[in-house]
Amino acid sequence: MTEKTRQILVTSALPYANGAIHLGHMLEYIQTDIWARFQRCQGHECYFAWADDAHGAPVMLWARAEGKPPEELIDIMNEQHKTDFRDFGISFDNYTSTHSDYNRELVELIYRNLDQAGYIDRRNIQQLYDEEEGMFLPDRFIRGTCPKCRTEDQYGDSCESCGSTYSPTDLIDPRSAVTGSKPVMKESEHYFFRLSEFEEPLKTWMSSGALQPEIINKLQEWFTDGLRDWDISRDAPYFGFRIPGTDDKYFYVWVDAPVGYIASFRELCDREGLDFDAWWGKDSKTEVHHFIGKDIVYFHTLFWPAMLMGAGFRTPTAVYAHGFLTVDGVKMSKSRGTFICARTYLDHLHPDYLRYYYAAKLGTGTGDIDLNLEDFVQRVNSDVVGKVVNIASRCAGFIQRRFEGRLSDRLPDQELYGRFVASRELISRDFETRNYQSAIRRIMALADEANRYIDEEKPWLQIKEDGKADHVQAVCTQGINLFRALISYLAPVLPFTADRAGAFLDTDVHDWRGIDQPLLGVAINAFQPLLTRIDPLKIEAVIEDSKESLQPAAAESATDAGFAVEDVAAEITIDDFTKIDLRVARIVSAEAVPEADKLLKLTLDIGAGTRTVFAGIKSAYEPSGLEGRLTVMVANLKPRKMRFGTSEGMVLAAGPGGEDLFLLEPDSGAEPGMRVT
Ligand code: MSP
Ligand code: ZN
Repeated sequence: MTEKTRQILVTSALPYANGAIHLGHMLEYIQTDIWARFQRCQGHECYFAWADDAHGAPVMLWARAEGKPPEELIDIMNEQHKTDFRDFGISFDNYTSTHSDYNRELVELIYRNLDQAGYIDRRNIQQLYDEEEGMFLPDRFIRGTCPKCRTEDQYGDSCESCGSTYSPTDLIDPRSAVTGSKPVMKESEHYFFRLSEFEEPLKTWMSSGALQPEIINKLQEWFTDGLRDWDISRDAPYFGFRIPGTDDKYFYVWVDAPVGYIASFRELCDREGLDFDAWWGKDSKTEVHHFIGKDIVYFHTLFWPAMLMGAGFRTPTAVYAHGFLTVDGVKMSKSRGTFICARTYLDHLHPDYLRYYYAAKLGTGTGDIDLNLEDFVQRVNSDVVGKVVNIASRCAGFIQRRFEGRLSDRLPDQELYGRFVASRELISRDFETRNYQSAIRRIMALADEANRYIDEEKPWLQIKEDGKADHVQAVCTQGINLFRALISYLAPVLPFTADRAGAFLDTDVHDWRGIDQPLLGVAINAFQPLLTRIDPLKIEAVIEDSKESLQPAAAESATDAGFAVEDVAAEITIDDFTKIDLRVARIVSAEAVPEADKLLKLTLDIGAGTRTVFAGIKSAYEPSGLEGRLTVMVANLKPRKMRFGTSEGMVLAAGPGGEDLFLLEPDSGAEPGMRVT
């Protein structure tokens, strides 16, 4: 390969600092990381820098609710996010926060340049204001009745029921979501970025090959609707950077968030001695690629490039949008246990599994990606473990035991190896264009060929024949070399497994140019299992833990809301109710489940026999204190298999959860087995 070395900066969208990383975020971060790693495998100079998005009203309100300074909370989150990313093998070069001096300096510089060039307007606007809290309310913090379809309790910007969008002042009976009080209209001065000035340069940028076709279509629609000026200021109180020259106006979080891309890279430049201007200066020849979700396209393809143009910076080489993650076909759901945090996943499963599955599903477009849990297990087990890792384990034993770890000095099927090397071009093109699913398909087709080769040669039979030892050594050497090409191609996707394979082969599998030379006549190391199969029970454990970790969170929001009438579940009929067989039960024994933080294993006597129930009440009760007590259970609940056993019902308890949980108990005189009606 004689291609010139490229200089590339890659970014992902900055996660908000007030929440944990979940598998939806990871779709994007893994997509970005695979691309960055792929570029490095080609010998390019590629950096990956990004940050937490620390500012905005939600972070401010979170800090108030916790009674702590926002800086303290975002620092803790930053550490957690970084650890999650590291443990998922995300190869970032720098990870910082938008609440940094680097970012403040850059935001102020960009703002001054824009202001001096006449791109900032100041004018008064009317907005809803919460007098109790003393703050202007962002649209998302106003709730009221939809003016179109009259559904109650909708957000200030759009209705979840009929989908219409409107301004918060159009809501019927608007309420502040912060205090519940009735907001009033109040005037204040706001700063606007004159986006419409950039229509022509944006159109030129749009046709420079920076965007996916569906995004170009979207942009064309926006151009037709006309570009509106962008409100870039927020009044105090706000957690963010103050606008220079004002006492009580802050940059809207979406102004300083993308600047965080530059700030994080600048920090890296200072640390590593890179030339910052060569990357971000106006006529820079380097490349900047942003990976984002489809929900934030407007910010990245209009506001962001326009800000850069207006302030005299370079524009991005490309912005790539991906779709949303669904789990088993539906939006991630807390009650189903499919709202899975990165950490919960990592507690049970190897990161390379998910990286592989996402890669096998990701294409170039913005369609949603489904994590089907059954398919996940099946696909990873059969492709990665059953096909790829298997090649190495089939050949390594012979090399180790019969040939003292040495590879033969010839390949019996040069032509086959040649095809593996030649596939590099198409596989590279797939990774380069983010068509990972196609790359994976090609790699797995090669893996099938490699397995077929070994099946046909049958080294396990040939080794028993006289005079075949040399040939068997060569066949296994062939297999090992085919494996080496495969694991090199998969290295951007499976970094941990590739590292282990590299140690086994005693070679660098991250450099794709290396496979031009097969490994011949050299010693390799003893084979260690590279990756084992996914145990489906581990998936159950992830789902269980995702449900469990919901409890305290739900409890908090429930108490915050003070249990208003709206919290009552949907109406049911008496027939619905009588389907539930409620029985008085005596707790015969109670014991803690060591593997589960929140569960107690209860044995319940319901007259006609006993039942085992796993109940999430460990934080509220000592097991010994429960024995002998009466309570109420749902006796006809479909048994549910959990990883510690089967749960055959549910006990009833009141309260938000955690320590505040109160087991229901019948009045004295009730007997086990009595029906509760
Ligand atoms: N803070 C902004 C981005 C600022 S970039 C200058 C933000 N944060 S976010 O935490 O909500 O999302 C971060 C990224 O993760 C976004 O690109 C978003 O699209 C992506 N995802 C968040 N949830 C997702 C799924 N469920 N599925 C796929 N991607 C998801 O937006
Ligand atoms: Zn509506």
